[in-house]
Amino acid sequence: MTNAFSPVTLGHLDIKNRLVRSATHEYFGEPDGSLGDRQFEIVEELARNEVGLIISAHACVTKWGRSSPEQNRISEDRFIEGFKRLTEIVHRHDGKFVAQISHAGGKAPSRVNEGRIARSPSGLPLKDQTPTLAFTLDEINEVKEDFIRAALRMKSAGVDGVQIHGAHGYMLSEFVNFVENKRTDDYGGNAMNRVRLIREILEGIKEACGKEFPVLLKINSNTTEDNGRYVEELIEMLKILKDSGLDAVELSGTGFSNLKDVPTPFFLETAAIVRRQVDLPIILVGGTRKIEDVERALEAGIEAVSISRPFISDPDLVARFKRREAARCIHCNQCFVLPKTTGKRCIFEK
Ligand SMILES: Cc1cc2nc3c(=O)[nH]c(=O)nc-3n(C[C@H](O)[C@H](O)[C@H](O)COP(=O)(O)O)c2cc1C
Repeated sequence: MTNAFSPVTLGHLDIKNRLVRSATHEYFGEPDGSLGDRQFEIVEELARNEVGLIISAHACVTKWGRSSPEQNRISEDRFIEGFKRLTEIVHRHDGKFVAQISHAGGKAPSRVNEGRIARSPSGLPLKDQTPTLAFTLDEINEVKEDFIRAALRMKSAGVDGVQIHGAHGYMLSEFVNFVENKRTDDYGGNAMNRVRLIREILEGIKEACGKEFPVLLKINSNTTEDNGRYVEELIEMLKILKDSGLDAVELSGTGFSNLKDVPTPFFLETAAIVRRQVDLPIILVGGTRKIEDVERALEAGIEAVSISRPFISDPDLVARFKRREAARCIHCNQCFVLPKTTGKRCIFEK
């Protein structure tokens, strides 16, 4: 019987249950980009507590695309060892570990990127990061190679797959989104062009790491203007990526931290539309804090549900769900702030 605790296969990735820890930046990385001690402890606690798949905090593929000074990097071989240790920890507890790889694009502050001005698809100024410059074609090609090399490093660390971060306003989501991407070359314009960079990265990773090496994508299921057009084009893009070998898509959304008193999981309605039209395993993230949320998603045909904030308040969430108890998380978003100011991650942490 399919339920939250039954195994599932996402493309080339087999997982012992349908509960996924969505990528979560802990803000405990070392200034040079290597993994900090607390990160190992956090991941071990989750793995020990039966999380089927743990997706890492996003690790930057290059020296120039970090979103914060505490972010991990996988831009050089010296970072492989840390991810190897992390993977071994998860495997000891019979879990799966996927590493998320990212570039912050227009959200890469110059102060954490050696003074380099941020790049976005069209150089449009973003509210939290001005000025930005448009990516040149050479820079696009460089980033593409950076993603592929990062995936190869992760593969040599023994991870069970990589997830391309294409959501939340970072570089690749800026390319996907018609609100931010006003380019007029092969990387802008219609949906096929706006997804080109992700497709080329995906195909490059599959060529370098082998077709069987699982590659996932996290992408927004909404945007700020003309959502109908966005969803229609998202479906077209996912069909293209499916043909290029994508193993699974994790559907997230912009503005998730401001959503209150809305039906949960947040993006289920769009995920159900995508489910009916694209033959690709879906992981749904956002707003899940009760087993009933997971059940609603599974009833709509979604393969797995991923969770971030409630795994911070309650690392033993899988056991709570088995008892049909909700997470204590109240979506207060202090997990974005507390680690940097107090070293704690949650208002419930003692
Ligand atoms: C502290 C914090 C750090 C996050 N870091 C990442 C990240 O590194 N990569 C990513 O794709 N999403 C990140 N997210 C977003 C979550 O993965 C998730 O998509 C979002 O929190 C909604 O899920 P939730 O309602 O279960 O928290 C982060 C969220 C939080 C709260």
